Amino acid sequence: MSKQYHNIPCPNIEDESEAEPFSLIMTDKVRRNLVFDRWRNSIFDRKELGPGMVLFKNYLTHMGQVDIVNICQKWAMGPGGFYHPSNRNGAKLRLHMMCFGRLWDPVTKYEKSYRSDGSAPPPLPYEFISLAENAIQDAQVHGLPSTLPDICVANLYSIYDRLGLHQDCDEHVGGLDRGLPVVSISIGNSAEFLYGHTRDENTLEKVLLESGDVLIFGGKSRLIFHGVKKILSDSGPSQLFQETLLKGGRLNLTLKHH
Ligand code: SIN
Ligand code: MN
Repeated sequence: MSKQYHNIPCPNIEDESEAEPFSLIMTDKVRRNLVFDRWRNSIFDRKELGPGMVLFKNYLTHMGQVDIVNICQKWAMGPGGFYHPSNRNGAKLRLHMMCFGRLWDPVTKYEKSYRSDGSAPPPLPYEFISLAENAIQDAQVHGLPSTLPDICVANLYSIYDRLGLHQDCDEHVGGLDRGLPVVSISIGNSAEFLYGHTRDENTLEKVLLESGDVLIFGGKSRLIFHGVKKILSDSGPSQLFQETLLKGGRLNLTLKHH
């Protein structure tokens, strides 16, 4: 017979999984997917740019784009927020940058956990993880390995800014070898994006990245050379600028597993 307290029968402990932690709110995965349903358009175009390289045009809803700007703005001015990074030669890059989740810097790469001012990056928002996870899933026909990102590098470009040709090659060699995909999100003004399998200018391809586009490069394209040649003025959705008060320019989020 079960024990009784205050005349309320108490269930036999062995029948119950009382040791299981019980949460009142949804699991992280359910939460991530719920958010994502509001962020992804039901109709979007896909362009195959190469093996393991897919561009989803108009992937993000207006609401998703607004949410992303607002999430970034929440952290933009605090410790770990946007700064003007330099390269190895001490020259300033022509963009502003901040990281979520982990620190990456053009000079110190992944070596440091804190910036020189002592600040650490803010946590990687679970909405960003969800976005990357779902976008990779949408590209699955290419046999891209799935991955959960642990870092987001956010770049903010004015219409005068740009980014030279480079490879994203500072991540763990195991992940690079497996071709773990990078997910790149474009918000605001459009960018002329260059990419190619060599640095040779003559072989580079050019594609326009517009607000709401999501580019994935993994597999055989994981070490693709890429850069931002130009930000187009008078481009981008005016409703996004009005609603977020984003002061023009382009926001790019690069999500990956370091
Ligand atoms: C990057 O490669 O770091 C950013 C690319 C982009 O802004 O589209
Ligand atoms: Mn890059």
